[in-house]
Amino acid sequence: MGSKALFFFVLFSLSALSFSAFAENEEDPGLVMNFYKDTCPQAEDIITEQVKLLYKRHKNTAFSWLRNIFHDCAVESCDASLLLDSTRRSLSEKETDRSFGLRNFRYLDTIKEAVERECPEVVSCSDILVLSARDGIVALGGPYIPLKTGRRDGRRSRADVLEQYLPDHNESISVVLERFGAMGINTPGVVALLGAHSVGRTHCVKLVHRLYPEVDPEINPDHIEHMLHKCPDPIPDPKAVQYVRNDRGTPMKLDNNYYRNILDNKGLLIVDHQLAHDKRTKPYVKKMAKSQDYFFKEFGKAITILSENNPLTGTKGEIRKQCNVANKHH
Ligand code: HEM
Ligand SMILES: *[C@@H]1O[C@H](CO)[C@@H](O)[C@H](O)[C@H]1NC(C)=O
Repeated sequence: MGSKALFFFVLFSLSALSFSAFAENEEDPGLVMNFYKDTCPQAEDIITEQVKLLYKRHKNTAFSWLRNIFHDCAVESCDASLLLDSTRRSLSEKETDRSFGLRNFRYLDTIKEAVERECPEVVSCSDILVLSARDGIVALGGPYIPLKTGRRDGRRSRADVLEQYLPDHNESISVVLERFGAMGINTPGVVALLGAHSVGRTHCVKLVHRLYPEVDPEINPDHIEHMLHKCPDPIPDPKAVQYVRNDRGTPMKLDNNYYRNILDNKGLLIVDHQLAHDKRTKPYVKKMAKSQDYFFKEFGKAITILSENNPLTGTKGEIRKQCNVANKHH
């Protein structure tokens, strides 16, 4: 290389270097701890306070905060696309079969309104969704998991690709491990995340295929009577709210009782049952059944990875004014 060429090469590399440093450090810091410390210092406290207030009045809203982080973040990105309503042109994620039973979205609106009163148009719905999950996990007796912020909101719902990302209730463990693996979540992480089924409920529509026309012989006979009592009809009336609690023992607590249940063949969904019997996942199920600490440790790691899946940061996306509709552009 001639000295002139070398000079330009060095100049070029230096400018490329400083440009990328600028782009990374100043324009788009990506996800960071306490992203709103300068722009809305009270944001995280307001969210935590609202979560506590709402949880006191509506205990089951915490199940929804926990389920939301899976249904939003696992579908391409944590971008609050889950919260968008259908438009005339497109069906929303909320209204698909995989989202069956998702509820309590109005309480996220309550949190968003409280944050907007303090700092209008600063804090994203996706960060509110993620932080309400963090604080909801604590309300349910789970671990405190420090999570980063700085996510921005997507502009469109992704109902059309949902099924490529969210496993169905009867999916094989191979597919489940593959889907979570694509996000960087390993086998113990998957086992820990499904521990979320230690709280909340499952509607009979997702269970009757294990009860009728014949009872699935793999279900613990002691549990069958209860399930049949809760789901008496082979075709449940869609308007009657018929369901079975995921964990009869401690239905309101995020704890490792789930693992004892599934080892005891009391798992409700096929995936829950398989988790305790597949040779890849069973060792971790046993370990988590014995140690709540181990469950919490793996759960914390997996929730962190899930919460950082493909975020929109910097100038991508927008800060939605209202969580159920994208902002209008003029
Ligand atoms: C293979 C993956 C998963 C499948 C197939 C699955 C499927 C389901 C189904 C069918 C229900 C019952 C919904 C109803 O009838 O109302 C449910 C409930 C629930 N799921 Fe999952 N889930 C999975 C993973 C997760 C993960 C990773 C989380 C959170 C980290 C989670 C959190 C919850 C919660 C909290 C509920 C109870 C919701 C309520 O009571 O409102 N699930 N899930
Ligand atoms: C899973 O259940 C759905 C109904 O919810 C059914 O259409 C589908 O065929 C089932 N898949 C498998 C692999 O059994």
